[in-house]
Amino acid sequence: MLGLSVVLSVAFAAQAAFASPLHSRTPYAVKESHPVPRKWTPVSRAPGDHMLHMQIGLKQERFDELERHLYEVSDPDHPRYGQHLSTEDVYELVKPSDEALDLVHEWLLSNGVDRFDYSPAKDWVNIYISVESAERLLNTKYSVFQHEDGSYLVRTPDWSLPLHLHDLIDTIQPTNSFMRATPQKTDWIQFGDHQAPPGYKPPSNETIARVCNIESVTLECFNTLYGSLGYRQQAVGKARIGFNNYLNQTPIRPDIFQFLELYNPPAALSAWTFESVEIANGPAAQYTPLTAEQLAGSDISEEAVLDAETILGMTWPQPVTSFSTGGSPPFNPDLNTPTDTNEPYLTWVNYVLGQKDLPQVISSSYGDDEQTIPKSYAERVCNSFAQLGARGISLLCSSGDGGLGGLDDSACYSNDGQNKSTFLPAFPASCPFVTTVGATMQFEPEVAVYRSPGVGSDGKQHGFYASGSGFSYYFPRPSYQDAVVPAYVKSLNGAYTGLYNPEGRGYPDVSAQGLYFAFFWNGELSTISGTSASCPLMSSIVSLVNDALIASGRPTLGFLNPWLYSKGYRGFTDVTSGNSSSCGTDGFPVTEGWDPVTGFGTPIFPKLVELAKGH
Ligand SMILES: *[C@@H]1O[C@H](CO)[C@@H](O)[C@H](O)[C@H]1NC(C)=O
Ligand SMILES: *[C@@H]1O[C@H](CO)[C@@H](O)[C@H](O)[C@H]1NC(C)=O
Ligand SMILES: *[C@@H]1O[C@H](CO)[C@@H](O)[C@H](O)[C@H]1NC(C)=O
Repeated sequence: MLGLSVVLSVAFAAQAAFASPLHSRTPYAVKESHPVPRKWTPVSRAPGDHMLHMQIGLKQERFDELERHLYEVSDPDHPRYGQHLSTEDVYELVKPSDEALDLVHEWLLSNGVDRFDYSPAKDWVNIYISVESAERLLNTKYSVFQHEDGSYLVRTPDWSLPLHLHDLIDTIQPTNSFMRATPQKTDWIQFGDHQAPPGYKPPSNETIARVCNIESVTLECFNTLYGSLGYRQQAVGKARIGFNNYLNQTPIRPDIFQFLELYNPPAALSAWTFESVEIANGPAAQYTPLTAEQLAGSDISEEAVLDAETILGMTWPQPVTSFSTGGSPPFNPDLNTPTDTNEPYLTWVNYVLGQKDLPQVISSSYGDDEQTIPKSYAERVCNSFAQLGARGISLLCSSGDGGLGGLDDSACYSNDGQNKSTFLPAFPASCPFVTTVGATMQFEPEVAVYRSPGVGSDGKQHGFYASGSGFSYYFPRPSYQDAVVPAYVKSLNGAYTGLYNPEGRGYPDVSAQGLYFAFFWNGELSTISGTSASCPLMSSIVSLVNDALIASGRPTLGFLNPWLYSKGYRGFTDVTSGNSSSCGTDGFPVTEGWDPVTGFGTPIFPKLVELAKGH
């Protein structure tokens, strides 16, 4: 192999003088174009020496078969329910053909790329090359793009491949994906500096009134509302839960410790001991308070602290794992050194797919507009989540905080060159292989989250916030939704026709509290909101159900949705009201039964345990 690579490198050098692209069996043709999303503007050519971690997604030979296995082991009415696949079984089903591997090797070697490694199933080839080399390899030109919020990415809207590779490679990134894994959390608010939402009625039920305060919602309130208060775990150490951090976010242990001392004192010491896994130079969970330097940045780990506080507070003594993936820091002021602009989402998922031993539940509160991502890439990332599901891992994602895509119609335009008015679904919320969690607020009843933008009593501007809602343009409706989603679409009587895809995967699937979580951060008590809060909360309840299942000798829930839509939905309190006004419309109605604002509603823990055991 080494000898071959040397020979080909010489051939490459000899040809380099002529033209680019360089060396190929067949002519190059554009493989994929994706328009630059509206919030991004090219500002300069990318520096030639900027390094890219390029991930080449080879066609997975038998993904259809993997999908079949996934649905069989996740369908409570199938004899194979709960018989999750091994890591090796999954690798076998998604590996590329030998032909694809050989031809891609030949192409890389003949273009001077002789160092590469693979994902465990070899369905991704990783190479580390300069922009200059990447431009030759893909016959394209990279630029530095700036987002409205000031951050930068190095990307190109289109890229080419030799024709003989077009059917063997699904996607190559970073090229035309502008996805950024942004946390779905809204403004941090100082303790006591906000008011109850308009129309709020305090609960009449004395128990709920005693433990649930709309200005600062605590673990005791969640456990009371959802029936998990006082649940004694029975399979300690066996049911495990994890969560994801990106963008340099990391759990700050001293803050988490103080939160737990206040709201779940027996759990407090776990703040210092929960596992922190660092991927691609992601930051380790931190033993010291936030530094002045960290505080001078933008996203000061509020998301990571929120996830850790919620999950440790709800699931202690379960083992908790924090995954911190490096890449794409939020600020990148120096254009000449656009630092790490790789694709962190893929880095994370390929890391976890390579691990044999994972938590059975993973919470992920990061996402972006679906249209910032080319379809081919969204599909591959979504397929990766199917692989986790086949292994019996429940992946939960927040639905987003912008309702249908933003407050008014100025936010809601297509990116396809036509600039059409449209709702903007979010990814990975729109992936059919994840369970997507929306947000509720108030207690009696719980209603869909809605907060108008405005100025609070603290004088600060508070952002618009509505539970993320919608239908995918990329992913067709999965069959598990057939029983409820077409009926919902029909009930709209044609409203919003043309603004959404009535044949698409609708989300969220379920919801949980998401306004004014009690929060300890940067040494003080405060509150924070977002579907980012709902997602770890719902994930925690799922992990408690897993504890009960393991204790009774049953398999854990795994990929939730087929169970949820056929049986599990009975274990939820239906949310039937609330505002979802966004994109300058009234939003989708929150109705009885499933709706694309609150899904099936909020969890009733004892009922979920009963239903999960009863299949
Ligand atoms: C009040 O709420 C608690 C917790 O949800 C519940 O157990 C209790 O039955 C409720 N009481 C009444 C009178 O509805
Ligand atoms: C898209 O259309 C809207 C409304 O007509 C307009 O305000 C906006 O500037 C357009 N955007 C682009 C990128 O053309
Ligand atoms: C939703 O909120 C908006 C903005 O506050 C308001 O104009 C609208 O009337 C509300 N809709 C409903 C159904 O309450």
